[in-house]
Amino acid sequence: MEQNNLTDKIKWVGKVDDRKVPFHRLILEKGTTYNSYFIDAKKPAVIDTVDIMFGKEYVDHLSKLTNLAELEYIIINHVEPDHAGALPALAAKAPKAVIVCTKLAEDELKKMFRLYNREFLIVKDGDQLSLGDVTLEFIETPYLHTAETMVTYAKEDEILFSCDIFSTHIANIELFNDIAQQEYEEDFKVYYDLIMAPHRPYVRNMLKKIEALPIKMIAPSHGYILRENPQKYIEVYNEKSKLNINNKERKVVIAYATMTGNTGKIAALLSNQLSEAGIKVSVFHLKDANLSEVAERMRESDGILIGSSTRYGDMVGNVEALLKMLKAEEVAGKSAAVFGSYGWSGEAIAHIEDYLVQLGTKVVNQKFLIQNLGVDDAIFPLRVKFLAEEEKEHIEDAGRVFAELLQ
Ligand code: FEO
Repeated sequence: MEQNNLTDKIKWVGKVDDRKVPFHRLILEKGTTYNSYFIDAKKPAVIDTVDIMFGKEYVDHLSKLTNLAELEYIIINHVEPDHAGALPALAAKAPKAVIVCTKLAEDELKKMFRLYNREFLIVKDGDQLSLGDVTLEFIETPYLHTAETMVTYAKEDEILFSCDIFSTHIANIELFNDIAQQEYEEDFKVYYDLIMAPHRPYVRNMLKKIEALPIKMIAPSHGYILRENPQKYIEVYNEKSKLNINNKERKVVIAYATMTGNTGKIAALLSNQLSEAGIKVSVFHLKDANLSEVAERMRESDGILIGSSTRYGDMVGNVEALLKMLKAEEVAGKSAAVFGSYGWSGEAIAHIEDYLVQLGTKVVNQKFLIQNLGVDDAIFPLRVKFLAEEEKEHIEDAGRVFAELLQ
């Protein structure tokens, strides 16, 4: 079998980048690889491409291996430019190829690369695609590393194309870990700490999704293909993503005012998620609460969640009275976030956030989440239009994220 082949049908067609590579706010001192895979099945397919800088070189190389006019599928696990960057160049040479990705990825790829006239196949968790003699299954892995991400599993060969997950930023020409000429295990762990650790709950979800899959080989997007002992690397993720429960008890105070009860229901859902994460939660419906007591409990807490419905463009009940009272308490530096249900508009949330900023709290909102977790979903502030059943999952996610920030 050729040196770059994973099986007799699956071949590595990526690019080794041995520069010091700028990546997000890091410099990859040891470089990286962009691992793209060509599946020479009855219906030929490519899984991911390479960085946008190497698009022409990549397509020229692929053209020598196969007739791109006959390529049937281009599977894009992740839209970042180090994965999908060469998609426009490849798509131009492969006019028949259907682009396979998640719904979120489709929206982004169409806009980013003006692929409005291309055929897309949208896949979701558990969907399968037959290439004739190779069957692929898709598993959504949101936030590993961005919202639209998925991984692809080749069923017969038991290979997991794991995208950013189980990757290492290291420029290696040997490709496979069993013939590695350099130490990479520490780099594998550092990669987890830098790229995956901020998304720990999503790592746990991903591990649950893949635990029943037989996996003979992990073919990630960067660094070594884990042909030897892939389970060992799954176990590294398992160990590193366990909750680091220390002996210090974490406390969160949730205080809210509600007009119709929906904001109270949000408070209850958040409280459940925080309790499940081992956090001691006190919930106050401000209508019946002693405000001085609530303010004092907030001073003693690690995190604060304040909720309000919106009425006439403002917060309701005695939420503002509580916020004014907090000026006399030492709450600066605590993690704080806002939630609320609304019917017509949801201005209360912005007003509460203004107070929390003035109080010097660490306000968990979209800007904070983008800067600290790379999460661009609007998890906080948690604005919920009425309270439909489908919002429940979003609220529970928000509870998990807030709990995570207190670990
Ligand atoms: Fe390999 Fe999320 O980029």
